Amino acid sequence: MKEHYYLDNAATTWPKPETVYTTMDSFFREYGVNPGRAGHDMAVEAERMIVETRRLLAVFFGFTGDPQRVVFTQNATDSLNIAIYGLAAGGGHLISTRLEHNSVLRPLNHLERDHGAAVTRVARDAFGYIDPDDVRKAIRPDTRAVIINHASNVLGSVQDIAAIGKITREAGVPFVIDTCQSAGVLPIDMDAIGIDILTFTGHKGLFGPMGIGGMIVREGVDLPPARVGGTGVDSISPFQPDEYPYHLEAGTVSIPGIAGLNAAQKWFAELGREQLGDVANGADHAQACAAALSHIDARERAHVTTLENAFRDTPGVTVYGPGNNGPRVATLSMNVDALPADQVGAMLDADHHVCVRPGLHCAPLVHEDEGTVAQKGTVRFAPGYFSNEEDLQQAIDGIRDIVG
Ligand SMILES: Cc1ncc(COP(=O)(O)O)c(C=O)c1O
Repeated sequence: MKEHYYLDNAATTWPKPETVYTTMDSFFREYGVNPGRAGHDMAVEAERMIVETRRLLAVFFGFTGDPQRVVFTQNATDSLNIAIYGLAAGGGHLISTRLEHNSVLRPLNHLERDHGAAVTRVARDAFGYIDPDDVRKAIRPDTRAVIINHASNVLGSVQDIAAIGKITREAGVPFVIDTCQSAGVLPIDMDAIGIDILTFTGHKGLFGPMGIGGMIVREGVDLPPARVGGTGVDSISPFQPDEYPYHLEAGTVSIPGIAGLNAAQKWFAELGREQLGDVANGADHAQACAAALSHIDARERAHVTTLENAFRDTPGVTVYGPGNNGPRVATLSMNVDALPADQVGAMLDADHHVCVRPGLHCAPLVHEDEGTVAQKGTVRFAPGYFSNEEDLQQAIDGIRDIVG
């Protein structure tokens, strides 16, 4: 028996590609200093790596604007707070959905309760999909932003962001997207879709460590800084520079975190080139990563289909979410009879060494709609790229054992 059968990749991916560990270690040892364009050699190397990572991420997310608009933050929560509070400064109306994570719900709730903002939370259908037309209908003259979770971290349903982006573009309303559960699995073309602010976290599908996240802010989108302070540039100015990324990046960034993201980006490209085989020659970062994502997505979806088929065949198990009724990621929520979700999670852990996540997954409205609050949420299985048949079988056997 393995020590851990890890199926909690929606919380954080584990393990990371080996190069992420080794690059973080060596970069932190050799160049783990505060960056600076005009500093000593080590500072210049740290700066070079950071600039390169902004460029790689811009390409990865289909952003053809200035890579300096790729801003590093602590995580997606940080990015979403900066985006939401920034766009709603002074009130107005915001549109989001009932599928959101608390990193979106709570800023909206606070704005509504404490700052007089109006919020529309668009409902979803039984499979977990938002009708883009409902977003269109919710837009008002004072709408400041539409904020959408690309892939649900409870149900795995993937929203039609291309259709929503078309609507927001036509209406001239900033479109903010939370890519926590889709980045590193699904292709996201920021320019083609018309995303104005793309937020990401480093430690999930992007295979970086915790403590690093970011946002890409399209030119022309006006966001006030959430924090002000040292930038290492324009220090004589009494105020935060307007120039990106310094406008939104104050203080020392996580060099090891960015080095991890950098290594992961190169790992995606390498994986993609392996998939492309003979035609890989000449493939740029975008093409190589696109090949990697389609390979990762296919593998993860095969995993989730194995789990879902087994669970649907098991009496007493309820499976939530889209099934085969639309686009999805490899996140699967289920419950066993009327057992509280945390009890099932604890049994899987203690008796079978299977690591899953029971609970509300920081998305309480999904559970209100699903009727799973009383059962303390759902048991969430999230196989990842590095999961294998053995992990899946252990989980299936564990659930069958619990069902009895
Ligand atoms: C959909 C979604 N949004 C936002 C977050 C917040 O990510 P982080 O905790 O890295 O800020 C998560 C993490 O679970 C998530 O799944």
